Amino acid sequence: MIVVTGATGNIGRRLVGRLLEDGVAVRALTRDPARAGLPPEAETVRADLTDAAGLEPLLAGADALFLNLAAGGQEAAGAVLDAAVKAGVRRVVLNSSIAVTGTPADETNFIARMHAALERAVRDSGLEWTFVRGGDYATNALAWSASIRESGVVRDAHPGAQGVPVHEADLAEVAAVALLDRSGAHQGQIYTVTGPEVLTVAQRVAAIGGAVGRETRVEQITEEAAAEAMSGPHFPKEAALELVRMFGGTVGTAPAVSDAVERVTGRPARTFAEWARDHAADFS
Ligand SMILES: NC(=O)c1ccc[n+]([C@@H]2O[C@H](COP(=O)([O-])OP(=O)(O)OC[C@H]3O[C@@H](n4cnc5c(N)ncnc54)[C@H](OP(=O)(O)O)[C@@H]3O)[C@@H](O)[C@H]2O)c1
Repeated sequence: MIVVTGATGNIGRRLVGRLLEDGVAVRALTRDPARAGLPPEAETVRADLTDAAGLEPLLAGADALFLNLAAGGQEAAGAVLDAAVKAGVRRVVLNSSIAVTGTPADETNFIARMHAALERAVRDSGLEWTFVRGGDYATNALAWSASIRESGVVRDAHPGAQGVPVHEADLAEVAAVALLDRSGAHQGQIYTVTGPEVLTVAQRVAAIGGAVGRETRVEQITEEAAAEAMSGPHFPKEAALELVRMFGGTVGTAPAVSDAVERVTGRPARTFAEWARDHAADFS
């Protein structure tokens, strides 16, 4: 049986579906099973992972765990990992980040620091592990959905910033392969997962316009304003500003494209145009 944290999230929902297709038992964790809308074949269990008491029963009987930091944050993820060790879980697939480089640079920004600390905890746990270091999730574009719906305009500090957006289904499929692995081939592996093509912010906005059949454009705003819009209760403005500046650094410098999706799953990574078509309803 495989336990999936963040099961109603972008990656988690795809992952639950993919694991069920393979015929394995899945325990899907969510704070609200009634609203989860997960397939009935999954064992959907209520769990607020920030409540460290009572985590162990959630892991009882599991062979493998998909651990997503989004499901309650860093402390919660550490507590789930401890509970997994106690419950005798064998394998963990960690949803990590491309920001982690395995160098001292990992301590220089908020996102890298958080994921690097969790990677260390996983390595120290004694469990078999696989790290899925994704970056530049295509789902980040969902933050534009309201403004695209209202006006077709996206406000961004760096319209020329480049990235390699990755579809959540590809992240889920890489994770699924590692979770289902019986051969040991994925044990101790670090997969840097990107989409198949470099795209600027402006090109993504245009791709969404193509998918929904209306005109879209980017309006440039200051880095401060962009950081303000991005920050929230779990994401301080300073960290957001760091991220906005980091995106600015990619203007004119294309990041690397990884072939991990194809290598691990045997299928090419999905394009952003495909992602935009899959999500057209979010922007219409
Ligand atoms: N965005 C990027 O470009 C990027 C790049 C690299 C890595 N990442 C990593 O990917 C993560 C996001 O993954 P995602 O997009 O699949 O996440 P997501 O869609 O935000 O899903 C997170 C899920 O976690 C659950 N959750 C939230 N708080 C919880 C709590 N206290 N207890 C239990 N469950 C809780 C929620 O489900 P319920 O509401 O049903 O409980 C939610 O559906 C980030 O946090 C980061 O670690 C992101």
